Amino acid sequence: SGAIVVRAPGKLFVAGEYAVVSPGEPSVLIAVDRYLTVSLTESVDAGSIHSPEYSRMPVRWTRGQDGLTLDREHHPYDYVIAAIEASERLRAERGLHPRFFDLHIESGLDDPSGRKFGLGSSAAVTVATIAAIDEFYGFELGTRGRYELAMLATIAVAPNASGGDVAASTYGGWIGYRSPDRDRLRAARSAHGVAAVLGSDAWNGSEIIRLAPPVGLELLVGWTGHPASTERLVSGVSRGTNVTGDAHAGFLEASRDCVEDLWRALAVLPDAGAPGDAGSDGTLALDAIRRNRRLLQALGERTGVTIETERLRILCDAAEAIGAAGKPSGAGGGDCGIVLAPADADVAGLLRVWETNDIRHLTIGVHPPEGDN
Ligand code: MEV
Repeated sequence: SGAIVVRAPGKLFVAGEYAVVSPGEPSVLIAVDRYLTVSLTESVDAGSIHSPEYSRMPVRWTRGQDGLTLDREHHPYDYVIAAIEASERLRAERGLHPRFFDLHIESGLDDPSGRKFGLGSSAAVTVATIAAIDEFYGFELGTRGRYELAMLATIAVAPNASGGDVAASTYGGWIGYRSPDRDRLRAARSAHGVAAVLGSDAWNGSEIIRLAPPVGLELLVGWTGHPASTERLVSGVSRGTNVTGDAHAGFLEASRDCVEDLWRALAVLPDAGAPGDAGSDGTLALDAIRRNRRLLQALGERTGVTIETERLRILCDAAEAIGAAGKPSGAGGGDCGIVLAPADADVAGLLRVWETNDIRHLTIGVHPPEGDN
């Protein structure tokens, strides 16, 4: 029996960041045409995980008042282990005979020099591992089941993750996403097991819808050259946020407002593979992205977290100067910014401003929607 080889795409957030961490709040993401590949081969008496990129990932320690602290991001292997553990639970609950396997991981999501672009490698490695094990054991999870199992694995590592990146990596294309209530999922998992949670009403409130790509708007991605830590930014924002306060309720409502405009502008697709010519409303989409950028600026000011760094400001201002719309993608603090530009915009002029300011144009396209199964 040969290797099972599965690839999962990276993602970019288009709108709704930070708000989507609250269950039920909407966001928009795309899957991108850069991939992480997992190869699974059956082994005899122990399993293993290998990766040329991730085995070199540094761990930093710092000296604080109370001694040494390990300043460590979640390592991609944490997600691989969580994916194996969730699958193992499902295997046992289904009464399948246990087997061992070796996993070989290759990430094409980051800069060849080793710096992270922020394209969602944690989600992609989780999704690809789940897909490979699904095939290995013949779980027949289908698209939704793979998203759900990958999501259970993800929140075992990062309790507050919205899972938008997991959904984008599983479904492909442009998606609208509302996150499930993760506390409820964890409680259901420990009370009833993994198999009982899949497809259950513990997911109520979450939503994944396929959106039509915008017609007549060009997608551009700029990389700031500064890798950012989503974990640190998200916990900084939540520390600086009074979640029950009026200001945060106002932020959620305003974010919901522009993301739902974007959903309308991008016409919901009835099913996978339908042509994306439903006639999107470019003006409405551009306006929604510009408003979302302002909201994230205000959220950063209110919480004292630099979401839009100087480099991101230049990246987005240059987009607005040519009649396009730009915003930080994801948690901000570095990584990438995305731009949607109308067909008649001076894109060459925008790229010159980026180049002068050391912002790298990443030639990234959209990974097409996966068929439902
Ligand atoms: C980070 O990529 C996007 C955030 O909304 C966090 C999340 O969705 O988990 C800031």
